[in-house]
Amino acid sequence: MSIEQQKELAARAAVNYIEEGMIVGIGTGSTVNYFIEALADLPYDIAGAVASSKATAEKLKACGIEVFDPNAVGDILLYVDGADEVNQHRYMIKGGGGALSGEKIIAGMAKEFICIVNEAKMVDVLGEFPLAVEVLPMARSYVARQIVKLGGDPMIREGFTSDHGNLILDIYNLRILDPQAMEQEINQIPGVVTNGIFAQRRADFILVGTDTEVKRIQA
Ligand code: A5P
Repeated sequence: MSIEQQKELAARAAVNYIEEGMIVGIGTGSTVNYFIEALADLPYDIAGAVASSKATAEKLKACGIEVFDPNAVGDILLYVDGADEVNQHRYMIKGGGGALSGEKIIAGMAKEFICIVNEAKMVDVLGEFPLAVEVLPMARSYVARQIVKLGGDPMIREGFTSDHGNLILDIYNLRILDPQAMEQEINQIPGVVTNGIFAQRRADFILVGTDTEVKRIQA
């Protein structure tokens, strides 16, 4: 089975958790796009969705799903999103698509977070995938120097501006042994909007698409 088929399998398994009339929080990326298509195929209607990015909002609208402003809804029951790396403790690296800030906000609003991935995303130690850090443009060089002190090699994501008008630094060569501490430490650097470690708000369970089944990883 291809990686794309594994992603679709995990995404389609996640629709089993969707109930009629729900407002669903939705992440960003190719795996989530399969989930949106599966949502559109449901035999019943959801009330709508809260999108983590402009790209996701466009995809939802194209599939006929109403998109609500996050400020216009209260807390939501469920958030569904992909990830770049996940470990057995359900800590994740996200932000490969640059939508990490929106993703962290909507994940924070949700009672439950379901992460959907293909099996190659499961790792023992986070950090082989470069860690995205969203920074205010004026803080780009300062933040990069602080990250070098933490042992990482930051590279500006060329030609990319986030939905919020900010820049992304991709941090190479970090071995993230304590995701909670590293998430906090990077977020405390002035000029950082947020970073792509999802540890303080990790997933409640992971649906992993493999060649033969969808595995569920939870506490
Ligand atoms: C978007 O910013 C990311 O956090 C995505 O959730 C992550 O990159 C996974 O994307 P794919 O589903 O496309 O692999």
